[in-house]
Amino acid sequence: MLLRLYSFLVLCWDLVYVIVGCLWAIFESFFQFIKPPKEKPVDGEIVLIAGAGRGIGKELAIQFAALGAKVVCWDINEEANKCTVKEIANLEVGSRQAYAYTCDVADREQVMKTGALVRKEVGDVTILVHCCGVPSPRSLVSKPAPEIRKTMDVSIMSHFWILEVFLPRMLELNSGHIVALTSVAGLSGIKDQVPLCASQFAVQGLVEALSEELRATKASNDIHLTLVHIYPFIVSSDLARDIRLRIPSYFGTIDPRDAAQQIISGMRRNYSEISVPGYLLYFGNILRILPRKASVMLRELLDAGVDFG
Ligand SMILES: *[C@@H]1O[C@H](CO)[C@@H](O)[C@H](O)[C@H]1NC(C)=O
Repeated sequence: MLLRLYSFLVLCWDLVYVIVGCLWAIFESFFQFIKPPKEKPVDGEIVLIAGAGRGIGKELAIQFAALGAKVVCWDINEEANKCTVKEIANLEVGSRQAYAYTCDVADREQVMKTGALVRKEVGDVTILVHCCGVPSPRSLVSKPAPEIRKTMDVSIMSHFWILEVFLPRMLELNSGHIVALTSVAGLSGIKDQVPLCASQFAVQGLVEALSEELRATKASNDIHLTLVHIYPFIVSSDLARDIRLRIPSYFGTIDPRDAAQQIISGMRRNYSEISVPGYLLYFGNILRILPRKASVMLRELLDAGVDFG
């Protein structure tokens, strides 16, 4: 009897603890919305950007360098990658230090080799940014859809290979930050793009599971993960120029420079999940809690708004 009463009291205490904790978390996130936390410095960090040759990856590389970080640029396109490095060397501020490595991230062997080379020549990577395989507007409308295995290799398998190379060292040092980009194809399904959507959802699964794993390993509380949702229709780049869009005329376009800035500032605040533009994350969450019929209607509204001309 007494034991029962005791366990009941313990249960009550746990419940109260959880409820107060939840309320506090909600309050805290509201407060953060009004007054975001201070951004941590990135100068002196070694940032690896996979996919630094163009688009957002390139902008991220340049901005990280401008903030004083050493940047390791990976891309399959040697020419474009060197171009990024040259731009960084010509910057007027920041570290001006960038190193180009040509690497096909889909190929585990190459990732291992290049990773070892980076460690020897530059040092331990402390910030890892993966932006390979994030589809451009062009690839979302191009038909036929990209090949299944290729899509999976570039968009999801490569995460595993890169993490295999760099995560153990981050765990040893108990510090680091991993940033993964995923696109709108990971926000809701898109017709004719099944492999792409599957890969983009997989990235989210990977990040979520990995943060759980790191959370469980108490020692690695100082390794952060940031999942970034990018809305490619809204990010204008040279690739998007020949695609006529209706949605941007309502919401305005974001150029890769602003997008990169938002990503870096979210990362520097240790946010676990952000989106570009910011409201997209809320929209995605609403889509998920709405009844199926309602979310289909909303999706159709979006589809109708995208006019590929
Ligand atoms: C982000 O994480 C780093 C490392 O754990 C920590 O030093 C820094 O204070 C954190 N910043 C914020 C805004 O939480």
